[in-house]
Amino acid sequence: MRITAFNGSPRGEGSNTGIMVSEFLAGAGAAGAETEQVFLSQKKIGHCMGCFRCWTATPGKCVFDDDMTMLLEKVMSSDMIILATPLYIDDVSGIMKDFMDRLIPLMDPHFEKDPNGEWLHVKRFGSYPDIAVISNCGMPGRQNFQVIQLHFRRMARNFHSKVAAEIYQDCGELLKDQVLILKPVISRYRKFLRTAGAEVATDGVISGKTAAKLEKPLITAGMYIKEANKFWDMKLSKLSDS
Ligand SMILES: Cc1cc2nc3c(=O)[nH]c(=O)nc-3n(C[C@H](O)[C@H](O)[C@H](O)COP(=O)(O)O)c2cc1C
Repeated sequence: MRITAFNGSPRGEGSNTGIMVSEFLAGAGAAGAETEQVFLSQKKIGHCMGCFRCWTATPGKCVFDDDMTMLLEKVMSSDMIILATPLYIDDVSGIMKDFMDRLIPLMDPHFEKDPNGEWLHVKRFGSYPDIAVISNCGMPGRQNFQVIQLHFRRMARNFHSKVAAEIYQDCGELLKDQVLILKPVISRYRKFLRTAGAEVATDGVISGKTAAKLEKPLITAGMYIKEANKFWDMKLSKLSDS
């Protein structure tokens, strides 16, 4: 099984998203999958211009000759793609949105009905990779992911695919492992991510048992907010001192 993760954090390799993806892929790799993490922040990806020439003049090919040409090949040669992004204003990062918009050459412009009677574009290819979603956000609470979760479901439907696995982590800034008292909690969480990766590589999905473990809060909302506010106060006071 070939799994390619597209990391949409502007922080690239040092991102919390990257921590989650790396652990997941380590587990998948150990279970036999061929894995790769692509840092979109290091790639040249122009905004889609909406010219639709990828549907008319050069079917399947964008007018831009940037890194998306190579990235589309990576998408289509994968059995599963991971769309990994920090939560930005309740949704995907701008980099991830550009990447998603530029997937449009993979579709044929004509419309057809899906089994539920909704319209979508016709396939250009016989099959498309499954989608896994990995995201983290700064605030506490899983409800922060309501929009992004729906966004990816709708996107997967439009791409004749499905969301086969999804992992969301709030209080994401804790993942960097800098808070001494939380080290055992974070290390356990990282282990669950590796287990999830191994399960996806083996069975194509995350088991209910592992999903439940991944859902457990890292810390109470009250504790997190107290420490986060202290952190920002400290940063701001340092600025006012200088
Ligand atoms: C522009 C911007 C918008 C953000 N919007 C949200 C948001 O809507 N909800 C939230 O909980 N966190 C939000 N965050 C916080 C990030 O999701 C959080 O810092 C995350 O851990 C960053 O992950 P990364 O290191 O993978 O980039 C935002 C951060 C930035 C810079």
